[in-house]
Amino acid sequence: MDFLNRKTVEDIDVNGKRVLVRCDYNVPFDSVGNITDTKRIDESIKTLRYLIDHKAKIIICSHRGRPKGAVKPELSLAPTIPYVSKVLNQQVQIATDVIGESAQTLCANLEEGQVIMLENVRFEPGEEANDPTFAKKLAAFADIFVNDAFGTSHRAHASTAGVAAYIPAVCGYLIQKELQILGNALHTPKRPFVAILGGAKVSDKIGVIIALLDKIDTLIIGGGMAYTFMNALGYSIGNSLCESDKLDLAQDIMAKAKEKEVKFLIPIDNIIANKFAQDAQWQVADSDQIPEGWMGMDIGPKSADLFTHAIEHAGTVFWNGPLGVSEWNNFAKGTYKVAQALANSKAYSIIGGGDSAASVEKLGFATQMSHISTGGGASLELIEGLELPGISCLLQKE
Ligand code: 3PG
Repeated sequence: MDFLNRKTVEDIDVNGKRVLVRCDYNVPFDSVGNITDTKRIDESIKTLRYLIDHKAKIIICSHRGRPKGAVKPELSLAPTIPYVSKVLNQQVQIATDVIGESAQTLCANLEEGQVIMLENVRFEPGEEANDPTFAKKLAAFADIFVNDAFGTSHRAHASTAGVAAYIPAVCGYLIQKELQILGNALHTPKRPFVAILGGAKVSDKIGVIIALLDKIDTLIIGGGMAYTFMNALGYSIGNSLCESDKLDLAQDIMAKAKEKEVKFLIPIDNIIANKFAQDAQWQVADSDQIPEGWMGMDIGPKSADLFTHAIEHAGTVFWNGPLGVSEWNNFAKGTYKVAQALANSKAYSIIGGGDSAASVEKLGFATQMSHISTGGGASLELIEGLELPGISCLLQKE
């Protein structure tokens, strides 16, 4: 896939034009309705500002959550409006529907430099089905489509890809930046290039691991999936998470790493617990000493030192997935130490969205990272070399 060769907002005349901008405003809220992480909105502002300054008539479109084609008021985009209005310095109006009367009226009365928002595009069944009839109706609101929803660019939906069949499609600055940074890391990384992958399952990360083995110098595996590798090495892992149907695969991955001279690091010790609970009893155990009835919940202190050492000597680090059950304090130290090591290192550090991005924000290390991607699934699929429908539908530069 040709990452960098897509037209951007600067390659098309937007002056006086109606522009449909796909953003990813699928942002987290607390229990009283405040946005707890505004990064996805903040990162979209540069594109919106450019369009405002160039007198475009701007229609923002986004999803929130997974309402599965039904109107779910609790997943309305209305709670994003106060913040979006504040950062754009204009009162943004929101339609009460996606392509209905309310949206049509707002779109018909749009003025140059004005921004409106459609309601959650996933309230329409045609969105996830990528229904051409729905995509055509959405596209009819605009003269130009700007995709700036990197976090959703791996979805072949009507508002991420389908609309591009009807109006010229380019990317915004957020997508341009993500493609440049992730593309550069993959093609011309500063070495040594270290990848840290955590999370529960090997099966979720197979494609990424295989793709990365051709590009990286060191692979660090943590989180629940590390225990499948330990088991494949013949260690007894007690009640730790294990995908017993993936043991051969784990062995193949380790063999491939050796063949490609990629240093392969898994935890050498662990924080183990007597049950999967926040208040479980815990202790430290070496990886070949996990007793029956206990389970691995986090990397141990020796592993944290080992991983920190690799990070200290890295030129580039890509990290996706927590290294333990990081939502519980007793099992969050490994993730904390690795985040801290990354924050202190001189390496170009890329956080691959999702849980790791949230951890880094929560731990207060966000400003010390070189790049925090706005896409979890999308950044992994991009690294895996898969086609991202929201990118491949965009016009190519000549
Ligand atoms: C995300 O939060 O990862 C993106 O908004 C994509 O959401 P989805 O997984 O529901 O498509």
